[in-house]
Amino acid sequence: MIIAIDGPAGSGKSTTSKLVAKKLDIAHLDTGSMYRAITVYFINNNLNLNEIDISSVMNSIKLEVLISNGEQSVLLNGDNVTSMLRSNKVSKLVSKVSSIREVRQKMVNIQREISQDKSIVIDGRDIGTVVFPNAEYKFFITASIESRAQRRFDELKDSDSNLTLEKIKEEIKNRDHYDSTRENSPLKKANDAIIIDTTHLNISGQVNEILEIINNN
Ligand code: DC
Repeated sequence: MIIAIDGPAGSGKSTTSKLVAKKLDIAHLDTGSMYRAITVYFINNNLNLNEIDISSVMNSIKLEVLISNGEQSVLLNGDNVTSMLRSNKVSKLVSKVSSIREVRQKMVNIQREISQDKSIVIDGRDIGTVVFPNAEYKFFITASIESRAQRRFDELKDSDSNLTLEKIKEEIKNRDHYDSTRENSPLKKANDAIIIDTTHLNISGQVNEILEIINNN
């Protein structure tokens, strides 16, 4: 069984997906982390996106996702980069990196491989539209820009004292715009996805709403 959960930045989809998977006792894959890991590779190797041969760079990257006890780790050529994935530097560049066709092709192949022969909750931007258009369940999680920015701010404020709510709001807006208007697999609700608006829901409310739909079908 595939449960596809898509939605914009800061909608709470990864936390919700992780808890839904835990409740159902199945695997969870956060595909945003994979695009973030590729972005870490570009940053660490000082690669300029306009100057590289993207196919050969992608061929030189081995990306592995380890899922153990519900926790996900990402290895880049054998190095565990999980702790670097959520930095603001990575968040700023990841939209650009994830808009590259060759990057997406490789990530989608890995996502399909990981999900083979198992039940899984998989979250991202294009899961219900491109990666698993035949998923048994599809959800599209949204929330107002204000509440999404507030959630991200609460998550990051302790690690970065220069951050302001306004700055985060601006970054999320830019990322949404970029993710929704890119040519390759843009962020889009699948026609048959169920919308969950989380503006006034806390995480357990989101999880319960999804579980109720799954359990009643
Ligand atoms: O969910 P997130 O914020 O960790 O995602 C990081 C970026 O990766 C986001 O800006 C868009 C991109 N992404 C994507 O293009 N496709 C996915 N399936 C998941 C994420």
